[in-house]
Amino acid sequence: MMQAADVSVSYGAGPIVSHVSFTVNADDKLIILGRNGVGKTTLLKGIMGILPIKGTLTFKDTDITTYSASKRSRSGIAYVPQGREIFPDLTVEENLQIGAMSHPVDFKNKLAEVLEYFPILTEHMKRKGGVLSGGQQQQLAIARAFISEPAVLMLDEPTEGIQPNIVSHISHILTRYHEEKHIPLIVVEQNLKFARKLGNKFLIIQKGTIVESGPIEKLTDEVSIAYLSV
Ligand SMILES: Nc1ncnc2c1ncn2[C@@H]1O[C@H](COP(=O)(O)OP(=O)(O)OP(=O)(O)O)[C@@H](O)[C@H]1O
Ligand SMILES: [Mg+2]
Repeated sequence: MMQAADVSVSYGAGPIVSHVSFTVNADDKLIILGRNGVGKTTLLKGIMGILPIKGTLTFKDTDITTYSASKRSRSGIAYVPQGREIFPDLTVEENLQIGAMSHPVDFKNKLAEVLEYFPILTEHMKRKGGVLSGGQQQQLAIARAFISEPAVLMLDEPTEGIQPNIVSHISHILTRYHEEKHIPLIVVEQNLKFARKLGNKFLIIQKGTIVESGPIEKLTDEVSIAYLSV
């Protein structure tokens, strides 16, 4: 479905992400782990086309390495950035409409479908995004990505700064969405419990390269101590 082969990403100077390769299929929920500053966000930005990459990115048997971010978005790659990045001055409904802009979806029908995953948002449709709590803003950011009917969905630290019961709720939503839509998820995450519950496979990045990967069962406490403890 999506294959990254020997992908390197830089901001101009030396590479921040070097020679990363992975494959995700419809069945996969890939968790990307690593300490602060190792290049996890940089990798997702490279895959999304926000930063240029070296190497090859293939999506549905098409080489999309030279596609712009908007062309990748139109081909079905969606991204929920770290820190949520919703539009604080737009209403919840307007924020969700933005998710429909890159795709010709019937917004009303799609909205009703997506709100079933996020009942809390229905109570706040006319409020500005910026006045929502952090947990509600994260749900809004994920809902906006769902509206775009992604063929692959990437999320950058969806549990960062979120209270445990909302973390558990987000885990349920993503698991259910994956089961119903049958699309790959790529999730950058530091929360080990969440990672083990959600993911079916993982990779760990250190200094921009993959140092460990495998089925999620191999994400043992020993591995976590070796590569993730501070
Ligand atoms: N716009 C930029 N220009 C130059 N260097 C950058 C830029 N953004 C990030 N970096 C550097 O790239 C490296 C990787 O950053 P990145 O944000 O990808 O890490 P991360 O693994 O996502 O960390 P965190 O867990 O803190 O989110 C860091 O050394 C960072 O300082
Ligand atoms: Mg990051």
